[in-house]
Amino acid sequence: MCGIFAYINYLTPKTRHEVLDLLVNGLKRLEYRGYDSTGVAIDATNTKDIVMLKSVGKVKVLEDSIAENLSGKEFDEPVLIHCGIAHTRWATHGVPCEKNSHPQRSDNDNSFIVVHNGIITNYKDVKTFLEKRGFVFESDTDTEVIAKLVHHLWKMHPGYSFRELVEQAIQQLEGAFAVAIKSRHFPGECVASRRGSPLLVGIKTKTRLATDHIPILYGKVLPRSESTSEFMPLEEKEVEYFFASDASAVIEHTNRVIYLEDDDVAAVRDGALSIHRLKKCTDDPHAREITTLKMEIQQIMKGNYDYFMLKEIFEQPESVVNTMRGRVRFESNSIVLGGIKDYIPEIKRCRRLMLIGCGTSYHSAVATRQLLEELTELPVMVELASDFLDRNTPIFRDDVCFFISQSGETADTLMALRYCKQRGALIVGITNTVGSSICRESHCGVHINAGPEIGVASTKAYTSQFISLVMFALVMSEDRLSLQQRRLEILQGLSTLADQIREVLKLDLKVQELAKDLYQHKSLLIMGRGYNFATCLEGALKVKELTYMHSEGIMAGELKHGPLALVDDSMPVLMIVLRDPVYIKCMNALQQVTSRKGCPIIICEEGDEETKSFSSRSLEIPRTVDCLQGILTVIPMQLLSYHIAVLRGCDVDCPRNLAKSVTVE
Ligand code: G6P
Repeated sequence: MCGIFAYINYLTPKTRHEVLDLLVNGLKRLEYRGYDSTGVAIDATNTKDIVMLKSVGKVKVLEDSIAENLSGKEFDEPVLIHCGIAHTRWATHGVPCEKNSHPQRSDNDNSFIVVHNGIITNYKDVKTFLEKRGFVFESDTDTEVIAKLVHHLWKMHPGYSFRELVEQAIQQLEGAFAVAIKSRHFPGECVASRRGSPLLVGIKTKTRLATDHIPILYGKVLPRSESTSEFMPLEEKEVEYFFASDASAVIEHTNRVIYLEDDDVAAVRDGALSIHRLKKCTDDPHAREITTLKMEIQQIMKGNYDYFMLKEIFEQPESVVNTMRGRVRFESNSIVLGGIKDYIPEIKRCRRLMLIGCGTSYHSAVATRQLLEELTELPVMVELASDFLDRNTPIFRDDVCFFISQSGETADTLMALRYCKQRGALIVGITNTVGSSICRESHCGVHINAGPEIGVASTKAYTSQFISLVMFALVMSEDRLSLQQRRLEILQGLSTLADQIREVLKLDLKVQELAKDLYQHKSLLIMGRGYNFATCLEGALKVKELTYMHSEGIMAGELKHGPLALVDDSMPVLMIVLRDPVYIKCMNALQQVTSRKGCPIIICEEGDEETKSFSSRSLEIPRTVDCLQGILTVIPMQLLSYHIAVLRGCDVDCPRNLAKSVTVE
C-alpha cells in the first residue's frame, strides 16, 4: 500500500545530505508498495523548523527535487542527533498530488508531522471533532487527522511525553495503520506505532548488540520529566534506528530488527528505544525479540536485469529449490514440513480444507486444488478472501484454513484469517515474509522461502506457493499405501523441476517474438483446463497487470458456453494443450477454435508434433508429471506479459494503479 521509512541517528554524526540519501534509498526499496507520490522531512539548519519536500510521481522525482531544492553548504555539516521521516504513497484518500502526499502536518509550523500506511476508518468523526476546535484541514487524506489530533493533545496535556501523546491519539483511531511521527517540539525523537499494517524497527550499533530483546512496558507511564526509566538504553551510546514497512528497506544498514505487534508504540529518545503498550493481558510477552534477518543485500538488487520482475522470473530455478530445501528428502522419498508437522494428525482429522488468498496467491490454490483433493481425500474449497468475507462463509472448528499470501499482509486475507480463527478453525499460513502478520497470527505454517519479491506482479512467489502446497499434499499422503506410486512420480517430478524450468526459460527469445505479434492487440484469451486452468487465470492476470491489455483466462470446458463467440481470425488466443488426462478435451477445444478461423498460439509438450500441427505458432515445454505442469506452463506466460509490457512502454515493476501489498480492504 504505502511505504514508511524513518531514520534516527544518535551520536552518529551524519550530514543532512547523508540523511536525505538514506531516506531516499529507503523509499526506493519500498517503492513497490506504492509509487504515486512521495515525501521527506528533516530538520532545518540552524532552527527548530522542519523542512518537508513532497512530489508527485516516483521516488526519482523526489530525488531530483531534493537535489534542486535542498542543497548548499549547510547540508554538508554533520548533525549528531537527528530524526528524518519519509513516505511513498499509493493513494486511497485523495488523488496523488503534493497536498495529499505524506508527511501530513498538524499546522503551518510542522509541530507534528506524520507518515502513514493504511486507512483511518473513523477519520471523518475525528476531523469534525478537530474542526470544532479550530483546526483547518488542507488535504483530502485521512492521515491529516493523526497529525492534528496529536497536536490537539499536546496543547491539552503540556506535560506528556511524545510517546504518550501518540499513544493517546492512536487510541482514538479506528482502522488499519502504521505510522511514524516527528515533531519540532521533540527534536531527535521519533514515535511509531502499528495496527494492522506492518512496521519494524532496525537497530544499528558499531558492535554487536548486548541484548536480544527490548522489554515491553505496560500501563500508564509517568510524565516526561520523571519517565526516563521507561526507555531501555542499549549498552551502546552511538546508535541508529530505522522504522520501515519492510525489512528490504533496512537490510543494507542492519540485520537486527524487531517486528512490532499491533498496538505497540515504539519511541526513540536520547538514543534509547522503548516499546510500550497501554493494556497488559495475561499472556502478553515481557519483551520483543530482536531478530537477525537472513536476507542478503543482493537479493533486493536488480543485478544485471532491467527489471526486478525479469530477475525474479529467472530466479525460479533457484527459488523452487529453496522452497524444497531441507524439506524434500529425495534419497528417502520423504518430506518434512517443520512448521506444520506437529499439526498433521489434527489436519488429517479435519472436515475440509479451505484455501484462501487474493490475486496470484489465490491462483496457486486453484493450481493445486486437484492434487490436494486426490492426495488428502478431503473436500477442498478454494476462496478469494474478499468474496469469502462478503459471504460470511460458515466455518467450523474442524475446518483447516490455509491463508496464502506472498507478503503476509494482504488485508482481505488477514481479515479472513481472523474470521476463521475466531470460529475455532486451525489456521495455516503459507507466506514468503517471515514475521508478517499472517505468519504471526497463524497456528502453524510454511514459509515458502522464495526470497524477497520486489516486482509488483508476483512470479517466483507463485511457483513457490505452488510447490509448498504440493509438498503439503505429499505429507498428507505419506502413509497411504495406494498412493505411493503417485507420490513417487511427483517426487521424481520435483527432483527435475529446476532443470526443466531452466529449459523453459530458454524460450525467452521465442516468447519475445510472439510478444511482437501481440502487443498491439486489445485482448488476449488464454484457454486451458484441468491442471492448467490456473495458468490461464494467472497468465491473464499477469497480462492485465503489466500491459493494461484486456485478457481473460478461460476454462476450455466453458468454451461453448460463451467465449467461443469471441473467436474469429483476428482475436488473439493462446491455448495450453498438454498430454495429460484432459488432452482429448483440450484437443476438442483447439479444433473448435481453429474451425472458427482462430489461429491460437499453442503451449504443448516437447516433440508433440500432432498438437503443434494445429498452429504455426507454438511453445514447447518439457514433460513432467501432470500436477506439476502448471509450474512449467506459467513461466512462458510470465515472460509473455513481461515482453508485451516492455513493447507497450509500460513500467514493468510498478504497474499503474497497483501496489504489491494491499493492506486495505
Ligand atoms: C496484489 C499484488 C499481487 C498479489 C496480491 C496478493 O494485488 O499486486 O501480485 O498476488 O496482491 O498479495 P499477497 O501478498 O497476499 O500474495
